Amino acid sequence: MTPEDWKAKLSLTRDSFLSALIKTDSAGIAEFETKYLGRKGELTLLLRDLKDFPIEDRKALGALGNALKTELSAALDARKTETGAGAVNLEKSKFDLTLAGYPFPRGGLHPLTIVADKMYDGFQKLGFSIAEGPLIEEDYFNFEALNFASDHPARDMQDTFYVDLKDSRGKDLLLRTHTSPVQIRTLKNQEPPVRVVSAGRVFRSEAVDASHSFAFHQMEGFYVDKNVSMADLKWTLEAFMKDLFGSSAKISFSPSFFPFVEPGAQVAVSCVFCKGSGAACPVCKGTGWIELLGAGVIHPNVIKACGYDPEKWSGFAFGAGIERFAMLLYGISDMRMLYENDLRILKQL
Ligand code: PHE
Repeated sequence: MTPEDWKAKLSLTRDSFLSALIKTDSAGIAEFETKYLGRKGELTLLLRDLKDFPIEDRKALGALGNALKTELSAALDARKTETGAGAVNLEKSKFDLTLAGYPFPRGGLHPLTIVADKMYDGFQKLGFSIAEGPLIEEDYFNFEALNFASDHPARDMQDTFYVDLKDSRGKDLLLRTHTSPVQIRTLKNQEPPVRVVSAGRVFRSEAVDASHSFAFHQMEGFYVDKNVSMADLKWTLEAFMKDLFGSSAKISFSPSFFPFVEPGAQVAVSCVFCKGSGAACPVCKGTGWIELLGAGVIHPNVIKACGYDPEKWSGFAFGAGIERFAMLLYGISDMRMLYENDLRILKQL
Protein backbone atom coordinates (compact mmCIF):
# COMPACT_ATOMS: atom_id res chain seq x y z
CA MET A 1 0.00 0.00 0.00
CA THR A 2 1.31 3.47 -0.90
CA PRO A 3 0.82 6.43 1.40
CA GLU A 4 -1.72 7.75 -1.08
CA ASP A 5 -3.75 4.55 -0.84
CA TRP A 6 -3.64 4.74 2.90
CA LYS A 7 -4.91 8.33 2.90
CA ALA A 8 -7.74 7.36 0.58
CA LYS A 9 -8.73 4.53 2.91
CA LEU A 10 -8.66 6.89 5.85
CA SER A 11 -10.95 9.28 4.05
CA LEU A 12 -13.36 6.46 3.17
CA THR A 13 -13.44 5.34 6.77
CA ARG A 14 -14.29 8.87 7.84
CA ASP A 15 -17.17 9.12 5.36
CA SER A 16 -18.67 5.78 6.20
CA PHE A 17 -18.31 6.42 9.95
CA LEU A 18 -20.06 9.79 9.82
CA SER A 19 -22.86 8.71 7.53
CA ALA A 20 -23.53 5.56 9.56
CA LEU A 21 -23.34 7.41 12.87
CA ILE A 22 -26.42 9.53 12.21
CA LYS A 23 -28.43 6.40 11.58
CA THR A 24 -27.29 4.70 14.77
CA ASP A 25 -29.60 4.82 17.79
CA SER A 26 -28.83 4.24 21.48
CA ALA A 27 -29.32 0.47 21.16
CA GLY A 28 -26.77 0.13 18.36
CA ILE A 29 -24.14 2.56 19.52
CA ALA A 30 -21.95 0.09 21.46
CA GLU A 31 -21.71 -2.21 18.46
CA PHE A 32 -21.00 0.77 16.24
CA GLU A 33 -18.17 1.87 18.49
CA THR A 34 -16.58 -1.62 18.37
CA LYS A 35 -16.91 -1.75 14.59
CA TYR A 36 -14.80 1.38 14.09
CA LEU A 37 -12.84 2.10 17.24
CA GLY A 38 -12.66 -1.29 18.99
CA ARG A 39 -9.52 -3.42 19.21
CA LYS A 40 -10.21 -4.84 15.76
CA GLY A 41 -12.17 -1.82 14.55
CA GLU A 42 -11.70 -0.36 11.07
CA LEU A 43 -9.82 2.73 12.16
CA THR A 44 -7.71 0.79 14.66
CA LEU A 45 -6.58 -1.68 12.01
CA LEU A 46 -5.81 1.12 9.59
CA LEU A 47 -3.60 2.79 12.17
CA ARG A 48 -1.89 -0.54 12.80
CA ASP A 49 -0.96 -0.78 9.10
CA LEU A 50 1.27 2.28 9.57
CA LYS A 51 4.03 0.07 10.93
CA ASP A 52 4.84 -1.09 7.39
CA PHE A 53 5.68 2.43 6.19
CA PRO A 54 9.12 4.07 6.41
CA ILE A 55 9.56 6.35 9.41
CA GLU A 56 8.99 9.73 7.62
CA ASP A 57 5.70 8.52 6.14
CA ARG A 58 4.71 6.97 9.41
CA LYS A 59 5.05 10.32 11.19
CA ALA A 60 2.97 12.30 8.75
CA LEU A 61 0.29 9.65 8.29
CA GLY A 62 0.16 8.90 12.02
CA ALA A 63 -0.66 12.54 12.73
CA LEU A 64 -3.52 12.41 10.23
CA GLY A 65 -4.81 9.16 11.67
CA ASN A 66 -4.71 10.39 15.25
CA ALA A 67 -6.45 13.63 14.37
CA LEU A 68 -9.21 11.62 12.74
CA LYS A 69 -9.50 9.38 15.75
CA THR A 70 -10.00 12.41 17.97
CA GLU A 71 -12.58 13.86 15.60
CA LEU A 72 -14.56 10.61 15.36
CA SER A 73 -14.46 9.95 19.10
CA ALA A 74 -15.88 13.41 19.72
CA ALA A 75 -18.62 12.82 17.15
CA LEU A 76 -19.42 9.50 18.79
CA ASP A 77 -19.65 11.10 22.25
CA ALA A 78 -21.95 13.78 20.91
CA ARG A 79 -24.19 11.11 19.36
CA LYS A 80 -24.25 9.19 22.65
CA THR A 81 -25.48 12.26 24.48
CA GLU A 82 -28.01 13.00 21.74
CA THR A 83 -29.52 9.50 21.90
CA GLY A 84 -29.26 9.22 25.69
CA ALA A 85 -27.00 6.17 25.28
CA GLY A 86 -24.56 7.36 27.94
CA ALA A 87 -27.13 7.54 30.73
CA VAL A 88 -27.30 4.81 33.36
CA ASN A 89 -30.48 2.82 33.20
CA LEU A 90 -31.55 2.68 36.82
CA GLU A 91 -34.27 0.11 36.14
CA LYS A 92 -31.84 -2.36 34.65
CA SER A 93 -28.80 -1.53 36.81
CA LYS A 94 -27.31 -4.43 38.77
CA PHE A 95 -26.50 -2.07 41.62
CA ASP A 96 -28.97 -1.23 44.34
CA LEU A 97 -28.35 2.45 44.61
CA THR A 98 -30.62 2.70 47.64
CA LEU A 99 -28.30 0.56 49.81
CA ALA A 100 -26.44 2.43 52.53
CA GLY A 101 -22.68 2.75 51.94
CA TYR A 102 -19.98 1.22 54.11
CA PRO A 103 -18.94 3.48 56.98
CA PHE A 104 -15.55 4.81 55.96
CA PRO A 105 -13.47 5.98 58.91
CA ARG A 106 -12.45 9.55 58.37
CA GLY A 107 -9.09 10.68 59.67
CA GLY A 108 -8.79 13.70 61.89
CA LEU A 109 -6.19 16.21 62.91
CA HIS A 110 -3.72 15.14 65.58
CA PRO A 111 -4.31 16.87 68.94
CA LEU A 112 -0.92 18.60 68.67
CA THR A 113 -1.93 20.06 65.30
CA ILE A 114 -5.26 21.19 66.75
CA VAL A 115 -3.52 22.89 69.67
CA ALA A 116 -0.86 24.52 67.45
CA ASP A 117 -3.68 25.83 65.22
CA LYS A 118 -5.47 27.24 68.27
CA MET A 119 -2.30 28.97 69.37
CA TYR A 120 -1.73 30.31 65.86
CA ASP A 121 -5.29 31.67 65.88
CA GLY A 122 -4.66 33.47 69.16
CA PHE A 123 -1.50 35.14 67.88
CA GLN A 124 -2.94 35.95 64.48
CA LYS A 125 -5.65 37.95 66.28
CA LEU A 126 -2.78 39.96 67.79
CA GLY A 127 -1.28 40.70 64.38
CA PHE A 128 1.36 37.95 64.16
CA SER A 129 2.03 36.15 60.90
CA ILE A 130 3.35 32.61 60.44
CA ALA A 131 6.87 31.54 59.41
CA GLU A 132 8.59 28.18 59.13
CA GLY A 133 12.12 26.94 59.53
CA PRO A 134 14.04 23.74 58.72
CA LEU A 135 14.30 20.85 61.19
CA ILE A 136 17.92 20.17 60.20
CA GLU A 137 19.69 23.34 61.18
CA GLU A 138 23.11 24.92 61.09
CA ASP A 139 25.07 25.56 64.28
CA TYR A 140 25.09 29.23 63.30
CA PHE A 141 21.28 29.62 63.38
CA ASN A 142 20.61 27.27 66.28
CA PHE A 143 23.35 28.58 68.57
CA GLU A 144 25.90 31.08 67.34
CA ALA A 145 23.65 33.87 66.07
CA LEU A 146 21.52 33.37 69.18
CA ASN A 147 24.47 34.44 71.31
CA PHE A 148 25.59 31.00 72.44
CA ALA A 149 29.38 31.19 72.36
CA SER A 150 30.91 27.93 71.12
CA ASP A 151 32.15 27.06 74.61
CA HIS A 152 29.13 28.42 76.50
CA PRO A 153 27.76 25.95 79.06
CA ALA A 154 24.21 26.92 78.00
CA ARG A 155 24.76 24.66 75.00
CA ASP A 156 24.60 21.73 77.40
CA MET A 157 21.04 22.72 78.36
CA GLN A 158 20.14 21.84 74.80
CA ASP A 159 22.20 18.76 74.07
CA THR A 160 21.32 17.70 70.57
CA PHE A 161 21.73 15.21 67.75
CA TYR A 162 24.38 15.94 65.16
CA VAL A 163 24.13 14.88 61.54
CA ASP A 164 27.17 13.50 59.76
CA LEU A 165 27.15 16.30 57.18
CA LYS A 166 28.89 19.65 57.18
CA ASP A 167 27.12 22.97 56.70
CA SER A 168 28.47 25.86 54.59
CA ARG A 169 30.62 27.02 57.51
CA GLY A 170 32.25 23.60 57.94
CA LYS A 171 30.32 22.66 61.08
CA ASP A 172 28.23 19.53 61.57
CA LEU A 173 24.54 20.00 60.77
CA LEU A 174 22.25 19.29 63.71
CA LEU A 175 18.60 18.70 64.52
CA ARG A 176 17.33 22.01 65.84
CA THR A 177 16.97 22.08 69.63
CA HIS A 178 14.42 24.90 69.66
CA THR A 179 12.39 27.06 67.30
CA SER A 180 14.47 30.17 68.08
CA PRO A 181 16.58 29.84 64.87
CA VAL A 182 13.42 31.00 63.04
CA GLN A 183 14.04 34.41 64.66
CA ILE A 184 17.38 34.67 62.87
CA ARG A 185 16.20 33.27 59.55
CA THR A 186 13.17 35.58 59.50
CA LEU A 187 14.97 38.75 60.58
CA LYS A 188 17.74 38.23 58.04
CA ASN A 189 15.09 38.14 55.31
CA GLN A 190 12.56 40.61 56.52
CA GLU A 191 13.13 44.08 57.89
CA PRO A 192 11.42 45.08 61.11
CA PRO A 193 8.75 45.74 62.15
CA VAL A 194 8.07 41.99 62.18
CA ARG A 195 5.65 40.01 64.26
CA VAL A 196 5.96 36.29 63.67
CA VAL A 197 4.97 32.97 65.24
CA SER A 198 6.38 29.63 64.16
CA ALA A 199 5.41 26.16 65.35
CA GLY A 200 7.30 22.97 64.69
CA ARG A 201 9.24 19.97 65.86
CA VAL A 202 12.43 20.26 67.89
CA PHE A 203 14.87 17.63 69.17
CA ARG A 204 16.99 17.09 72.24
CA SER A 205 19.10 14.25 73.43
CA GLU A 206 16.84 13.54 76.35
CA ALA A 207 15.48 10.46 78.11
CA VAL A 208 11.75 9.92 77.60
CA ASP A 209 9.36 10.25 80.55
CA ALA A 210 5.91 11.70 81.27
CA SER A 211 7.07 15.24 80.55
CA HIS A 212 10.16 14.81 78.33
CA SER A 213 10.81 13.49 74.87
CA PHE A 214 13.70 13.48 72.38
CA ALA A 215 11.33 15.04 69.85
CA PHE A 216 8.67 17.53 70.83
CA HIS A 217 7.03 20.71 69.54
CA GLN A 218 7.49 24.36 70.25
CA MET A 219 5.93 27.60 69.19
CA GLU A 220 8.26 30.54 68.84
CA GLY A 221 6.97 34.09 68.76
CA PHE A 222 8.83 37.36 68.37
CA TYR A 223 8.22 41.00 67.70
CA VAL A 224 10.90 43.44 66.59
CA ASP A 225 10.21 47.15 66.16
CA LYS A 226 11.23 50.47 67.67
CA ASN A 227 10.85 50.75 71.46
CA VAL A 228 9.64 47.22 72.16
CA SER A 229 9.91 46.42 75.85
CA MET A 230 9.14 43.83 78.49
CA ALA A 231 5.78 45.58 78.96
CA ASP A 232 4.81 44.73 75.36
CA LEU A 233 5.81 41.11 75.98
CA LYS A 234 3.72 40.95 79.12
CA TRP A 235 0.66 42.50 77.51
CA THR A 236 0.89 40.22 74.48
CA LEU A 237 1.25 37.01 76.49
CA GLU A 238 -1.53 38.00 78.87
CA ALA A 239 -3.93 38.75 76.01
CA PHE A 240 -3.04 35.42 74.42
CA MET A 241 -3.50 33.38 77.63
CA LYS A 242 -6.86 35.01 78.39
CA ASP A 243 -8.01 34.21 74.87
CA LEU A 244 -6.93 30.57 75.23
CA PHE A 245 -7.74 29.78 78.86
CA GLY A 246 -10.48 32.30 79.66
CA SER A 247 -10.56 35.83 81.03
CA SER A 248 -9.67 34.83 84.58
CA ALA A 249 -6.23 33.54 83.50
CA LYS A 250 -3.33 35.45 85.00
CA ILE A 251 0.34 35.26 84.16
CA SER A 252 3.46 35.59 86.26
CA PHE A 253 7.06 36.28 85.27
CA SER A 254 10.09 35.05 87.15
CA PRO A 255 13.72 35.65 86.20
CA SER A 256 15.39 33.05 84.03
CA PHE A 257 18.39 32.71 81.73
CA PHE A 258 18.59 32.20 77.98
CA PRO A 259 21.64 33.56 76.12
CA PHE A 260 19.48 35.24 73.45
CA VAL A 261 17.33 37.37 75.76
CA GLU A 262 18.14 40.00 78.36
CA PRO A 263 16.31 40.13 80.68
CA GLY A 264 14.98 36.59 80.42
CA ALA A 265 11.93 35.18 82.12
CA GLN A 266 10.06 32.00 82.81
CA VAL A 267 6.35 32.63 82.30
CA ALA A 268 3.64 30.78 84.20
CA VAL A 269 -0.13 30.87 83.89
CA SER A 270 -2.50 30.62 86.85
CA CYS A 271 -3.61 26.99 87.24
CA VAL A 272 -6.64 26.45 85.03
CA PHE A 273 -7.64 23.38 87.05
CA CYS A 274 -7.70 24.53 90.68
CA LYS A 275 -7.71 28.29 89.94
CA GLY A 276 -4.93 28.57 92.45
CA SER A 277 -6.99 27.38 95.39
CA GLY A 278 -6.26 23.67 95.72
CA ALA A 279 -3.32 22.72 97.88
CA ALA A 280 -3.49 19.18 96.50
CA CYS A 281 -3.92 20.02 92.79
CA PRO A 282 -1.91 17.37 90.89
CA VAL A 283 -1.22 19.71 87.98
CA CYS A 284 0.21 22.78 89.73
CA LYS A 285 1.21 20.82 92.84
CA GLY A 286 -0.56 23.38 94.96
CA THR A 287 1.52 26.32 93.78
CA GLY A 288 -1.34 27.78 91.76
CA TRP A 289 0.98 28.32 88.76
CA ILE A 290 1.94 26.28 85.72
CA GLU A 291 5.19 27.13 83.92
CA LEU A 292 4.49 27.38 80.23
CA LEU A 293 7.19 29.20 78.37
CA GLY A 294 10.51 30.96 78.24
CA ALA A 295 10.61 34.56 77.10
CA GLY A 296 12.47 37.84 77.27
CA VAL A 297 13.70 40.94 75.54
CA ILE A 298 15.87 39.98 72.56
CA HIS A 299 19.58 40.36 73.34
CA PRO A 300 21.32 43.22 71.48
CA ASN A 301 23.87 40.69 70.14
CA VAL A 302 21.05 38.83 68.37
CA ILE A 303 19.71 42.02 66.80
CA LYS A 304 23.29 42.78 65.67
CA ALA A 305 23.80 39.27 64.25
CA CYS A 306 20.70 39.78 62.10
CA GLY A 307 22.24 42.97 60.70
CA TYR A 308 20.35 45.67 62.61
CA ASP A 309 21.39 48.42 65.00
CA PRO A 310 20.35 47.43 68.54
CA GLU A 311 20.27 51.13 69.49
CA LYS A 312 17.44 51.56 67.01
CA TRP A 313 15.60 48.26 67.08
CA SER A 314 14.44 46.13 69.98
CA GLY A 315 12.14 43.18 70.40
CA PHE A 316 10.75 40.44 72.54
CA ALA A 317 10.68 36.68 72.00
CA PHE A 318 9.07 33.69 73.61
CA GLY A 319 9.18 29.94 73.12
CA ALA A 320 6.41 27.64 74.32
CA GLY A 321 6.16 23.87 74.45
CA ILE A 322 3.07 22.86 72.48
CA GLU A 323 2.77 19.53 74.33
CA ARG A 324 2.39 21.43 77.61
CA PHE A 325 -0.50 23.43 76.19
CA ALA A 326 -2.09 20.25 74.82
CA MET A 327 -1.75 18.53 78.19
CA LEU A 328 -3.45 21.48 79.91
CA LEU A 329 -6.20 21.93 77.36
CA TYR A 330 -7.04 18.21 77.24
CA GLY A 331 -6.19 17.31 80.82
CA ILE A 332 -3.52 14.76 79.82
CA SER A 333 -0.99 13.84 82.47
CA ASP A 334 1.54 11.93 80.36
CA MET A 335 2.86 13.45 77.13
CA ARG A 336 3.70 10.00 75.73
CA MET A 337 -0.04 9.60 75.10
CA LEU A 338 0.36 12.18 72.36
CA TYR A 339 2.90 10.07 70.47
CA GLU A 340 1.61 6.53 70.83
CA ASN A 341 -1.09 6.94 68.18
CA ASP A 342 -3.51 4.87 70.20
CA LEU A 343 -6.83 5.49 68.47
CA ARG A 344 -8.74 4.88 71.71
CA ILE A 345 -7.07 7.99 73.09
CA LEU A 346 -6.82 10.11 69.95
CA LYS A 347 -10.55 9.67 69.30
CA GLN A 348 -11.38 11.25 72.65
CA LEU A 349 -9.48 14.43 71.92
N1 PHE B 1 14.29 28.67 72.91
C1 PHE B 1 14.08 28.56 74.34
C2 PHE B 1 14.05 27.07 74.73
O1 PHE B 1 13.81 26.25 73.91
C3 PHE B 1 12.80 29.23 74.74
C4 PHE B 1 12.82 30.69 74.56
C5 PHE B 1 12.42 31.26 73.35
C6 PHE B 1 13.26 31.52 75.57
C7 PHE B 1 12.45 32.64 73.19
C8 PHE B 1 13.29 32.89 75.44
C9 PHE B 1 12.88 33.43 74.23
O2 PHE B 1 14.27 26.72 75.85
